[in-house]
Amino acid sequence: MPTKKNAGSKTKSKRATRARRTGVWRTAANSDRHELYELAVQEVVAECDFIEKAWRAHRGRLATTIREDFCGTAKACTEWARRRPNNQAIGVDLDRSVILWGERRHRAHLPASIASRITILEANVLEVETPAVETILAMNFSYFIFKERETLVRYFRKCFESLSDDGLLLCDAYGGSEAHSEVEEERSLDGFTYVWDQNQYNPITGDVVNHIHFRFPDGSELKRAFTYRWRLWSLPEIQDAMREAGFANTTVYWEGTDHKTGGGNGIFKPSRRGEACAGWIAYIVAEKRARTTRRAVSRRK
Ligand SMILES: C[S@@+](CC[C@H](N)C(=O)[O-])C[C@H]1O[C@@H](n2cnc3c(N)ncnc32)[C@H](O)[C@@H]1O
Repeated sequence: MPTKKNAGSKTKSKRATRARRTGVWRTAANSDRHELYELAVQEVVAECDFIEKAWRAHRGRLATTIREDFCGTAKACTEWARRRPNNQAIGVDLDRSVILWGERRHRAHLPASIASRITILEANVLEVETPAVETILAMNFSYFIFKERETLVRYFRKCFESLSDDGLLLCDAYGGSEAHSEVEEERSLDGFTYVWDQNQYNPITGDVVNHIHFRFPDGSELKRAFTYRWRLWSLPEIQDAMREAGFANTTVYWEGTDHKTGGGNGIFKPSRRGEACAGWIAYIVAEKRARTTRRAVSRRK
């Protein structure tokens, strides 16, 4: 997945250097694509930290219930249920194979006190029916799969209806000048190289085809381990669609810059002004109902 890059900052291109892991070299033949995806892409601790930060900022309290849409292995559900004894998580994905992988890898090893607070549904997020939740999480740009505006609004409306009255929808987006280019970005990780391949971009429709490849020190490769056929939605388009779906307010959290590397510093703050950088990722918080301010409360008395 893309990362923040200012114009002129360098893209890493070296091959994996730390190739040994518990004495076994990673190769395409002995690697599991879901495991590598989680290692390379997912940051569920940061995601759950962000949920808590958003709830404190927008509602002045913490949430207990989340629904992780497009949950894949549902690692965020596991992290959420783990971190507080009252937390509850629902994961939704339509791919049974990835749900089962997450069950074997994560949920089967949890104590019953945690596992019992996680529910995974094999369903389409456009149709799923769940009890009202406080938070819906749609991460790693998964909703970009909805290419028609009508479908995007339908998805956001479904989220709106599934949220409690003060609920928040949290999702991410990416963009920047490089997002409109056909480029490959490599990242050297523990015993393998992660490759984000922006393979096709159609400026007329906004459609993109992105692949993830994993390359190994022995020269082997898991080519096209994952493929995403998306529409590259812009932040104003996404926020307009959210408001059309009924959300009262949207806030973009923009990532700060690490001035040594020119990349992102991992700190996201509410902002009305971004930078025209080569690559960025941002969070969007959509509030079902606008925050009730103290002044508004006292006026009603
Ligand atoms: C990019 S992965 C995201 C995995 C995980 N949420 C993450 O943050 O890394 C997209 C996932 O969305 C699922 N998916 C795609 N369309 C869906 C839909 N309409 N309803 C539910 N899941 C869907 C796919 O099966 C896949 O597991």
